[in-house]
Amino acid sequence: MKHLLSLCDAQNQVQELLDLAMRFKNSQMEEKPLDNKTLAMIFQKSSTRTRVSFEVGMAQLGGTALYLSTNDLQIGRGEPISDTAKAMSRYVDGIMIRALKHEDVVELAENSTVPVINGLTDLEHPCQALADMQTIKEHKGDFKGKLVFVGDGNNVCNSLILISAILGMDMAVACPQGYEPNIKILKKAHILASRSGAQIEVTSDIKAALKNADVVYTDVWVSMGDEEEEEKRMREFMPFQVNQNLMALANDDAIFMHCLPAIRGQETIAEVIDGPQSVVWDQAENRLHAQKAVMYYLMKD
Ligand code: CP
Ligand code: NVA
Repeated sequence: MKHLLSLCDAQNQVQELLDLAMRFKNSQMEEKPLDNKTLAMIFQKSSTRTRVSFEVGMAQLGGTALYLSTNDLQIGRGEPISDTAKAMSRYVDGIMIRALKHEDVVELAENSTVPVINGLTDLEHPCQALADMQTIKEHKGDFKGKLVFVGDGNNVCNSLILISAILGMDMAVACPQGYEPNIKILKKAHILASRSGAQIEVTSDIKAALKNADVVYTDVWVSMGDEEEEEKRMREFMPFQVNQNLMALANDDAIFMHCLPAIRGQETIAEVIDGPQSVVWDQAENRLHAQKAVMYYLMKD
């Protein structure tokens, strides 16, 4: 694996990355393995967790992280992404990018001589999915249960589908018609699942999806970039709100997950996200450990 743009890039490394993440969490790794390394972090969209966890993670690994908003970069004034990649490759040891369009991240990587990490695009959020699987392992012990994603078949959902298919975890997506996950991702996932034994299904039947659920996961109804559709989405997603009634359809010991940021009163409610089944803060913490694992894997000499 040279870059982490999609979980498909990491299909043979996911287990190793999860093990590394646990070792970082348990302080079992050497001190400052990325001494003197620099990570450029390009942001075209807002971020709290991704920015802070990458920046803190890089400091803990002994390196430096540069926060670069596209408003301040020449990309914002029209410099081609390929030129940006070539210039940056001469200064830094890795580039993390949060971009509006996945194709831009692919183009950046094609022109970069240093590793590129996807910090969220319209298509995928691979670092989130790694932290999520670390969290599921901690709370459930293994990946033998069933993960149910309720809501928009978005970037977070796409990456969860791929990582579930890689690790052999059964996954159901319950979404309104018209908001299904990306079709190419589903095709890739079915190939991966045929090797791992995972069952991957997409349905609009919430009740059927939540039967035997061990993990109930949701995300915002309006992702960054979808703001124009807000009113329509509010109407169409309301039956998919993860409230106590929906949680009651899952197994009694099911955990509730959300990548955050969350909007209480929309995709979930306070009683669930702030309730005893919620593991969202462990999930948020694990972003730090999972990303240290990714940076270590890609950037260590
Ligand atoms: N979950 C996540 O990526 O959060 P941020 O948008 O705050 O980085
Ligand atoms: N699906 C959300 C995730 C934010 C971390 C978005 O893309 O805005």
